[in-house]
Amino acid sequence: MKLTRFEWKILAAIFAVGAVSLLGALVLGTRAMRESYQVGINHQVGDQLEGGLEVYRAYFASMRENAERTADAIANDARLQATLAVDSDVDPGGVNRRLDALLTRYPDVGRISLVLSSTHVVLYSREVSERLDRTRYRLITLERENAGLSISVTISTPAERFAEYQNAGEVAGVYKRLLQNTTYVTDAYLGVYIVFLLVLILLIMAIAMSLSRRVTRRVALVAEATKRVGSGDLSVVLPIESKDEVGELTRAFNDMVRDMRTSRDRIDYLSRVSAWQDFARRLAHEIKNPLTPIQLAVQEVHRRYTGSDLTFKKSLDDARSIIEEEVATLRRLVGEFSSFAKLPEAHLDDADLVEFANEAFRTLAAIGSPEKAGDALVDVRCEAPNGPIAVRIDAMMLKRCVDNLVRNAVQAVRAAGPASGLVVLTVRQEGSNALLEVQDNGSGVAAADQMRVFDPYYTTKADGTGLGLAIVKKVVLEHGGDIECLSAKGGGALFRMRLPLAK
Ligand SMILES: Nc1ncnc2c1ncn2[C@@H]1O[C@H](COP(=O)(O)OP(=O)(O)OP(=O)(O)O)[C@@H](O)[C@H]1O
Ligand SMILES: [Mg+2]
Repeated sequence: MKLTRFEWKILAAIFAVGAVSLLGALVLGTRAMRESYQVGINHQVGDQLEGGLEVYRAYFASMRENAERTADAIANDARLQATLAVDSDVDPGGVNRRLDALLTRYPDVGRISLVLSSTHVVLYSREVSERLDRTRYRLITLERENAGLSISVTISTPAERFAEYQNAGEVAGVYKRLLQNTTYVTDAYLGVYIVFLLVLILLIMAIAMSLSRRVTRRVALVAEATKRVGSGDLSVVLPIESKDEVGELTRAFNDMVRDMRTSRDRIDYLSRVSAWQDFARRLAHEIKNPLTPIQLAVQEVHRRYTGSDLTFKKSLDDARSIIEEEVATLRRLVGEFSSFAKLPEAHLDDADLVEFANEAFRTLAAIGSPEKAGDALVDVRCEAPNGPIAVRIDAMMLKRCVDNLVRNAVQAVRAAGPASGLVVLTVRQEGSNALLEVQDNGSGVAAADQMRVFDPYYTTKADGTGLGLAIVKKVVLEHGGDIECLSAKGGGALFRMRLPLAK
């Protein structure tokens, strides 16, 4: 995928915006994380936990002291000493009884053993077995020396105290570690966060790129089309894909190119017409001058002949009438050529097109009535709205144009010979234009010829000059409007004249 310079710029802009905002989020986010972390882990909580542990420790210390005292008391018990003191005659039953009595007296003592210090031989040992249950008690064995005997006292302490102490200790320990590792934990989160943000930036860039592609591609199309227009190709028309600003730009571009095309066509046509006018003037001049001498000469020959050769006289009569007829036709042609050559420029004045059409129609209606025997009557109508349509026109020249159009229409209807010939002159407003249409139900103009009919000297009629529509188009263009030849619904021709409305 090759990026255009414009796309690079957009990509850079998106990256800058994304990076700045996400970096902001990163800084704020880390700070917020640290702070919320500090709220959860604060030193007071740690201190309290430590305090709890202290209580347990004190408890255990006092327990230990008690145990020591109990061990001392048992080791120094006078009656036990007494039972043992009788060197020669120790009564084992007496010793055991005394030990049992001591076990009864000290409920937290589980076992008392008397061991010979030198050989470690156990001499006596009494116990309360349920006090030695290791699942319920923690056992501490304390030893006391007394006259060669080692007195071992096993003290049982409830195990649950130790478990509690252990739990409290663990909690405090974990807490301490957490406190020490705050930075480590937040750094770990920070890493994840940065990776997440990077992925997010890439994602945003990908989405933004695909969105902006649609815009840049269309902008590139306009740029490309502008180049083509610059090199003189005015046939460019861009597709309008949406209603956004780029769509607007495309529409404006198309309008601009269309306007350029119209005005280029206008200039082309007018300069062509002007060349033809020049040609018509010279032609009229060259033909007009010899016509009179030709006519005079043939008349002279005809007059001078006094002979009696009837056949020759007949030929002479024929020649004179043919020459006079042809000279008359040439004179008419010369007249039309020179009036085309002398066609003045249109001078525009404010006018109401509706009024103009109604006025023109008064004389136009007569065009439909038969000129010579055998001509069919053609119904010529005018359809105009009531309200005024303000335009700027040269009424005389425009009247001549409408006259030409209606005359052509009547001729076309007669040539096609429909039973009921109809020609309709319509005037109406459409957007910023005034429309003047002449429609007939004749044979119509083939699509291929619809452009050519406006060319000077283009005619399909035996006695036509082909200048009528050329004059019409020249005049309409000078009005800042245009004219086109279309096919009417019924198959006839439709000439649509478009004139700008007066500002
Ligand atoms: N209403 C129409 N229906 C059919 N064809 C038409 C119509 N108007 C014009 N044309 C065609 O366009 C040609 C050119 O018309 P234009 O008015 O320029 O010259 P013309 O009518 O032939 O000659 P002139 O106007 O000198 O009599 C006509 O010869 C005819 O073929
Ligand atoms: Mg004509």
